[in-house]
Amino acid sequence: MNGIPGSSEYSMTRTTCLTGAKMLSSTFLTGALRIFLVGILCLGGFVTLFFMYYKSALDCPPQLPENRSLSKKQPEPDKPIMLLWFWPENRRFDFRDCATFFNIDGCHLTDDRSLYNKADGVLIFHKSIKHDLSNLPPSPRPPFQKWIWYHVESPTNTIRIPGLENLFNLTLSYREDADIPVRWRLTARKGQGEDFVLPKKDKLVCWIVSNKDPATGTGVRYNYYRELAKHIKVELFGRAFATFLKYEDYYSTLSSCKFYLSFENSVHRDYITEKLNGPLAAGTVPVVLGPPRQNYEDFVPGDSFIHVNDFPDAKALSEFLLKLDKDDEAYMRYFQWRIDFSAQQHLVQLSQEFTQAICYACDHIGKHWEYRVVHDIYKWHFG
Ligand SMILES: *[C@@H]1O[C@H](CO)[C@@H](O)[C@H](O)[C@H]1NC(C)=O
Ligand SMILES: *[C@@H]1O[C@H](CO)[C@@H](O)[C@H](O)[C@H]1NC(C)=O
Repeated sequence: MNGIPGSSEYSMTRTTCLTGAKMLSSTFLTGALRIFLVGILCLGGFVTLFFMYYKSALDCPPQLPENRSLSKKQPEPDKPIMLLWFWPENRRFDFRDCATFFNIDGCHLTDDRSLYNKADGVLIFHKSIKHDLSNLPPSPRPPFQKWIWYHVESPTNTIRIPGLENLFNLTLSYREDADIPVRWRLTARKGQGEDFVLPKKDKLVCWIVSNKDPATGTGVRYNYYRELAKHIKVELFGRAFATFLKYEDYYSTLSSCKFYLSFENSVHRDYITEKLNGPLAAGTVPVVLGPPRQNYEDFVPGDSFIHVNDFPDAKALSEFLLKLDKDDEAYMRYFQWRIDFSAQQHLVQLSQEFTQAICYACDHIGKHWEYRVVHDIYKWHFG
């Protein structure tokens, strides 16, 4: 982010040009020894010099300013400023990614705290706030400024930090009723749908899981998995099972499975994460565990996934999956939705984990100016 692409090439070209000029003057001196040829050589020298100069003017670019760090760049006057107060979990990315991946360019996104007094929005990552609130932005607070509470964990995994009442103006969350809801959504296709070709499958059921710590609410899904695995083979990937999957292998691995366990770590309304989007984008049928089917159908067509609640128990689910494995026609019906909608591959690199949310906040700040206050953040979040 801080580098100037090609800066070393520029200085190399400069050196070459200077050496060339020195060589040229010595050529000129040698020529001066022959009085008879002085005139001609001079003329030749001038012509050469002219071309060298002309060429160097083209080849040697003007010196670039040394600091072109994006975050230190002076804000453009017509754009609202959004200040990222904490880098979530220190996962840094290039702010230009907002334009690249989301076509969002409506704010000046910065992590430069010296712009605090000018910032229209301040994005504050809940998990980074200290319990004594000592690392929150300072007072006084510009009256036009909006603080955004940024928290994308479910209530099960939320630590209550006291004293956050009447501080924030906006909420950013997975919740649909947040001011800035963040999730990966299907988009409608216009006109001709795709000719879907089912990716080659060599596995039946897969599960990538990085966390099986029961303290984070994962007990429900882990118990369900253990029950299921008694009746059907489940291929496991991810940190929790010591078979680490490289990011670049994420989509190809998902594609190679007929079914994927989209099991959320805890069960809450609207808490439907990229664990659902992944298989939809990869051409795999998600088997979901999370809020009720109806809540899933707020976001994706009802025939695009299998819900564990549709079956009395894990054994019945496994029988259904085994039956579908032998019935191509019934299996392919789970991809009908692709005629009218498409799923976009979400960003999977660790450094990109928070990119979407931060870009969405920038987009919001660039479009909304209304007065708003969130009185009791926890009543809303836990309610
Ligand atoms: C470039 O930026 C760094 C830190 O952002 C600063 O310490 C340094 O003095 C700057 N250099 C110039 C030439 O402005
Ligand atoms: C933001 O919220 C604070 C207190 O919660 C309030 O004093 C301030 O006027 C609000 N600002 C805007 C622009 O909504």
